[in-house]
Amino acid sequence: MKDELDTKSQPVQAEPKVKDKEVSAPEDVEALDEMEIDKKRHLNVVFIGHVDAGKSTTGGQILFLSGQVDDRTIQKYEKEAKDKSRESWYMAYIMDTNEEERIKGKTVEVGRAHFETETTRFTILDAPGHKSYVPNMISGAAQADIGVLVISARKGEFETGYERGGQTREHVQLAKTLGVAKLLVVVNKMDDHTVNWSKERYDEIESKMTPFLRSSGYNVKKDVQFLPISGLVGTNMKTRVDKSTCPWWNGPCLFEALDSVEVPLRDPKGPFRMPIIDKFKDMGTVVMGKVESGSVREGDSLLVMPNKAQVKVLAVYCDENKVRCAGPGENLRVRLSGIEEEDILSGFVLSSVVKSIAAVTEFTAQLQILELLENAIFTAGYKAVLHIHSVVEECEIVELLQQIDPKTKKPMKKKVLFVKNGAVVVCRIQVNNLICIEKFSDFPQLGRFTLRTEGNGDKLFSLPINYCS
Ligand code: GTP
Ligand code: MG
Repeated sequence: MKDELDTKSQPVQAEPKVKDKEVSAPEDVEALDEMEIDKKRHLNVVFIGHVDAGKSTTGGQILFLSGQVDDRTIQKYEKEAKDKSRESWYMAYIMDTNEEERIKGKTVEVGRAHFETETTRFTILDAPGHKSYVPNMISGAAQADIGVLVISARKGEFETGYERGGQTREHVQLAKTLGVAKLLVVVNKMDDHTVNWSKERYDEIESKMTPFLRSSGYNVKKDVQFLPISGLVGTNMKTRVDKSTCPWWNGPCLFEALDSVEVPLRDPKGPFRMPIIDKFKDMGTVVMGKVESGSVREGDSLLVMPNKAQVKVLAVYCDENKVRCAGPGENLRVRLSGIEEEDILSGFVLSSVVKSIAAVTEFTAQLQILELLENAIFTAGYKAVLHIHSVVEECEIVELLQQIDPKTKKPMKKKVLFVKNGAVVVCRIQVNNLICIEKFSDFPQLGRFTLRTEGNGDKLFSLPINYCS
């Protein structure tokens, strides 16, 4: 049985949290030559999907199959899970490291881990599925290049996740908004006795998901790939599923699919941008985040925006390694001098001094209204929570400027006072504190945002689009 969490006690603006699986002392590691780090390509993969779909189990199994976790540790987890009457959760314990997560069987903070295949270094980000922790999921997805959408094929579970209000839908829409360009859709729990590797069940899920993924903006032919797995047993993950288990599957296994995903283009020469997702004190101030543009190197002078603090880069760590230089797409820890840890908030951006990132309290944007609460209308005065890269900030719509005709994509002549579900509208948005933001046309990753409202347990609504001015 699932535990019900108390959704009402969760603040809307929960601080996005990321936990790290590797607790290594950065000082102990050797400096790597910058060439070494570039040998393999690097991909950040976020695991998303409805609560209990098997994200942590699948992530844990990946680490086990790639040799990151030994048998003894697995046995320890098996015992611990049994003691907590959660026998089947032992694989998830690899990713779910804190006590609260293990007791409840729910991921809360985004788990982070690393593994490698022949060609690629992967950073796995294991997002929570429970709706209370959507802000954490958003911070995980904001750091990702591609997503693994985990769907449970178990009877009834696919249905609950896919319903309006289920996190399968919300996660897909958020992932698209946050720049997750490609999705591997893994149909999980194929071993379950209600599924038993049934082709009918797999096809049913694929045929229901496909139109939804298309309507969420994914090019289903180019950017989406489906495959069946069992995360718990580890089937069709590192090696292809045996024909005796699944005679009808002729496609790749998960590792093959991950290996063949194309890496997005990145500009190592662009102005430096690294949204900060977390910070801590450790011989100076250390900030964590994913580089969205440009490169960073020991000794660089940078700005922490929006407070324009001048800082110097003392050291750069990539995964657990100290490196001299790192480029876009990397998840880093950067040790800084010139700023105190208390003066940094998540959502701030480490930026180059020349061409620094803009900081604003008001901006114009084009929004698509995805799912308004029943009977609600979208008008001036509407309050929501704005999520953009690692920023979470309350905002208010101060003025609707124009409605866009969805067919012609041109502005409509009529003055607009309110809009309903499905509308595309240009509006002015205000926040209380300065936030770092870019024009969508210059920097889609930092110009793409989501507004959400939460009330009475249901969430809601709109998709990005452009920050215009
Ligand atoms: P949240 O973090 O709460 O969103 O859940 P999650 O998606 O990480 O799910 P988790 O990995 O914690 O697994 C939830 C339950 O599903 C556990 O009891 C797992 O053992 C079970 N489960 C996961 N994958 C499989 C699978 O492939 N087959 C079967 N039979 N059960 C699975
Ligand atoms: Mg989990």
